[in-house]
This record gives sequence, structure tokens and C-alpha cells, in this order.
Amino acid sequence: MANNELTVAILGPGGVGGLLAALLSRAGHRVICLAGEETADTLRTNGIRIHSARYGDFTAPVEADTELREPVDACLITVKATTLDAALTRVPAKTLGDGLLVPFLNGVEHPTHLRAHYAPTQVAPAIIRVESTRVAPGEIEHGSPFAEIDLTGDPVPRERLDALATALNAAGPKTQVLPDETAALWAKMTFLAPLALLTTRYGLPLGDVRTRHREELTALLEETAAVSRSYGGPSDAAGALARYDTFPPQTKSSMQRDAEAGRPLELDAIGGALLRAAQRQGIAVPVAARLVRELAA
Ligand SMILES: NC(=O)c1ccc[n+]([C@@H]2O[C@H](COP(=O)([O-])OP(=O)(O)OC[C@H]3O[C@@H](n4cnc5c(N)ncnc54)[C@H](OP(=O)(O)O)[C@@H]3O)[C@@H](O)[C@H]2O)c1
Repeated sequence: MANNELTVAILGPGGVGGLLAALLSRAGHRVICLAGEETADTLRTNGIRIHSARYGDFTAPVEADTELREPVDACLITVKATTLDAALTRVPAKTLGDGLLVPFLNGVEHPTHLRAHYAPTQVAPAIIRVESTRVAPGEIEHGSPFAEIDLTGDPVPRERLDALATALNAAGPKTQVLPDETAALWAKMTFLAPLALLTTRYGLPLGDVRTRHREELTALLEETAAVSRSYGGPSDAAGALARYDTFPPQTKSSMQRDAEAGRPLELDAIGGALLRAAQRQGIAVPVAARLVRELAA
């Protein structure tokens, strides 16, 4: 790593990955996007164009390929859970060498899955708070006035997490390294799962969910908090509800947007994972179970 410049691969340069790829490229790092042939061609030719109130409108050049062909300092995984296995075939463990593998997916089960295929010490899960949309290949709309990353990885050497966090911070997103991976992943789940399940189930924005389905929302927040607590995560259901109340009423979840667009839902990675985690701990989650059942149908 010369002059603190990293070589970073981005597997799945969509809403999250495209934004991070462009910001890292603009900050002087070498960025290789890994995508299907058509997307890779477009990115190689046109770069990635960002529209962002926070970071400005700019186009950043990136390299692009359909497969990782050399070791990198880090490979950020920014595909959806529904395409994770197919996408991982583009990152052979042997080629990655000892590069960090940094999944930005929502959910709590993918780190274990990744550690079955790559060395546990190189899997560093990240949690991102952002709203960023791939409107076309290489065209990204960053809609939220913020982008914040929590970087974790219990078995990963701290200095490796710190080096990546420094690069991400300098590129734009406010990044912190957190010590407890499970708690960090559950912190996101406790907030995300109730929002995703209810907005998608009823096809309503948050403003209507929190007024018309408040009892259900409260019960679901309590169930999720109980599961989170059993894994050492946050368990403040009332605090989460109060936070929901501060959001603009038109807020939608990304699962809801996927449903509206007819795309596959990350239902198993979010709702399914919540039910499995509850079952392992012997915690009853009747509202979550019913919503997952209804959504799956
Ligand atoms: N977007 C957000 O604001 C946000 C916020 C927080 C967390 N998240 C989480 O971040 C993850 C990524 O979400 P996203 O919204 O960024 O998804 P997205 O916009 O749909 O981007 C996914 C990207 O993966 C690519 N892809 C699909 N299959 C692939 C394969 N087999 N090989 C390589 N690339 C493949 C797609 O390529 P094409 O462009 O060629 O279709 C697309 O660019 C999800 O788990 C989501 O829940 C998202």
C-alpha cells in the first residue's frame, strides 16, 4: 500500500457500491468494480456519475471487470442478499489473497456465510446508513443528506479496520470502527426489520404505518428488541419508536421499493433471519412471524 492509496474492489456497484466506488476513486484510490459484462463495460467507458447534495455532482473513473483477477486491499460486497452467492463466484478466495472482505448487506447472517468460504479474519462486516439508488448502470442518486458507516469484525486485526476506516472517512462517509460485531449488526436490524416488514406488508409509507398500524409497529419493535437484547444488541423499543416518529412521513423502506418495482425482496435475509434468531433463543415473535408469512405469500 503506497502513499496510503488502496486498491479496492467493489462487488456490485449499485446504490451503495457505486457511491462508495466513486467516492474512493475521487479520493485517489484504485477502484475495480466487479459486475456483469454489460455493467462492467458501461462503467469502464463512462465511469460512475454521482448526484449528491452531500458530495456534489461528479463523475469518477473506475476500472471494471467481471471477475477479480488480482489481490486487493479490500473487496467491498454491495450486492443484495438475493444475489450474494451468484456474485461471490466473481471473487475467488485464492485470488483475493488476504484482502479484507467487507459486506455492506443488511441482515445478520451473511458474515457467518462468508466465513465458511473465506478466512474468518478477513471478513469485516460494515453497516451503512444511507439512501442511495442506482438509477441506471453507473448512475447513482445519493438521496440522504448523510452517509455513515460502522465497520466491525471481531476476528479482524484492528489496524486493518482502522486503515480502511481512515480511507473511507477521507473519501466522505463518516466511518467508525465498532468493537462488537454482533451488537452492531443487531443495532441496524432492530431499526430496519420493523420498518421493512410493515411498510412492505401494507404498501404504505412510514407516516401511515406509524399512525394506522401503531400497535403492530410497537409490538414488532418490542419483539425485535427482545431478540437483539439476547444477542447483546440494543433493546430500546420505545427509543426506536421515538426515532421513527422523527422521520419524514413519506419515508419508504428499500424492501418496499423493491416490492413496488417487482424486484426480489431481501425478506429471508431480514425477516427470515429475525425468525431464525428468535427461535435459536427461544423468544416468541408472533407479529414478525405473521408478517413474514404474509409477505412470503
Ligand atoms: N441503497 C441503499 O440506500 C442501502 C442502504 C443501506 C443498506 N443497503 C443494503 O446494501 C445492499 C446493497 O443494496 P443496494 O441498494 O446498493 O443494491 P442495488 O442498487 O440493487 O445494487 C446491487 C448491485 O449488485 C449488482 N449485481 C447483482 N447481481 C450481481 C452479480 N451476480 N455479480 C455482480 N454484481 C451483481 C447489480 O448490478 P447491475 O447494476 O448490473 O444490475 C447492482 O449494481 C443491500 O443488502 C441493501 O439492503 C442499501
